[in-house]
Amino acid sequence: MQVDVVILGAGAAGLFCAGEAVRRGRSVLVIEHNAAPGEKIRISGGGRCNFTNLNCSAERFLSQNPRFALSALGRFGPADFLARVEASGIAWHEKTGGQLFCDGPATQIIAMLLRGMAGAALWTGTSFAEVVKEDHGFAVQTSRRPVRAGRVVVATGGKSIPKMGASDAGYRIAAGFGLPLVPMRPALVPLTFAEQELAWMKPLAGTALPSARLSHRVNKRRQSFDDAVLFTHRGLSGPAVLQISSYWREGDMIVLDMSAGAGTAARLRELRATRGRQAVATALSTILPERLARHLAERAGFSGNLADVPNAGLERLDRLVHALELRPVGSEGYRTAEVTLGGVATEALDPRSFEARNVPGLHFIGEVVDVTGWLGGYNFQWAWSSGWAAGQAV
Ligand code: FDA
Repeated sequence: MQVDVVILGAGAAGLFCAGEAVRRGRSVLVIEHNAAPGEKIRISGGGRCNFTNLNCSAERFLSQNPRFALSALGRFGPADFLARVEASGIAWHEKTGGQLFCDGPATQIIAMLLRGMAGAALWTGTSFAEVVKEDHGFAVQTSRRPVRAGRVVVATGGKSIPKMGASDAGYRIAAGFGLPLVPMRPALVPLTFAEQELAWMKPLAGTALPSARLSHRVNKRRQSFDDAVLFTHRGLSGPAVLQISSYWREGDMIVLDMSAGAGTAARLRELRATRGRQAVATALSTILPERLARHLAERAGFSGNLADVPNAGLERLDRLVHALELRPVGSEGYRTAEVTLGGVATEALDPRSFEARNVPGLHFIGEVVDVTGWLGGYNFQWAWSSGWAAGQAV
């Protein structure tokens, strides 16, 4: 079989790129080892697909060169993808922070992408072995039959959630052609803790802190996220934790403010003046979930009444609530990570076409590239933007 373009991976980036290439008259074959295309889209955003974010800017992406993403994001940005969504009649809504979700099931986005690439061949349930450069293009060995193509687009995504089809195939292809890789690690992932911390966290499993702040400092740079934090049997999860996990490294400390914006010492002083006979834990539970309030009162050594706690004690409680230093020991890994940090180094790719500088005709798009977005629709936008850009060039 001979086509103009072979796209490896029928995820967000691959499907969108296929549509653009078909629109430009190219013959396209998409190869996918899962039985169905777009599996991550299907389960994304709690089944509603957070398909973009209106606030895309360089600082919302992690990469050795965050500016690399700007060219593609500028040429095909959130408004452009939203226009496609609206043209397809898909109802959507905005949540906090510019996050856009479908009103209905995420499968509408998959259906839109498949309609957009009508005319392309899609081989699901098909694996590929190797990609070999020939004089005029590439030969790709697949489990169906050999394919020849003028161009190959690698859109195999990251390593996150292997049971959904994630593989390291794209990284292996890049390495095989001598492209540099930025070391990969799980990101947007729950953090785990050692037994000592788990002893107090585990009984709180299921408890949420809806307006927490998590901060992390590396050298002089401080990154913090205001969002919910959730206690789990293994440690901490929730949006603020997933966000900070992309910045955290082994050995680093994170600082948890359990109730950002609340002045705990001032609140407790007020209560001490009016309800001094209240137990410390009861007073704290006006700010925090009860189980957590009880734990913090115990941890600070206050089992009695509020009236017996001196100002210095209230300040100690305030620091526990607003600046609790925690040292995660690890993360839940690729099993639950939403994305993979690192990947094909951007310096090896042309930012307009996503073509490898040293291998004409070979393109890398989406998560396999060293560009990783924050939680909130940024990663799909990266898939659309990079898929669109490569689609104009293949
Ligand atoms: P993607 O992973 O989508 O596609 C790669 C494809 O290649 C897969 O279909 C895979 O099976 C296939 N493949 C891999 N190896 C292969 C091989 N050897 N042979 C054949 N095929 C192969 N982002 C966001 O912006 N908003 C959101 O709401 C969410 N929600 C979300 C929820 C969950 C649970 C996860 C795990 C992730 C998200 N994300 C997200 C992240 C988002 O899903 C992700 O960044 C994009 O899907 C990346 O798009 P790609 O096309 O690059 O990879």
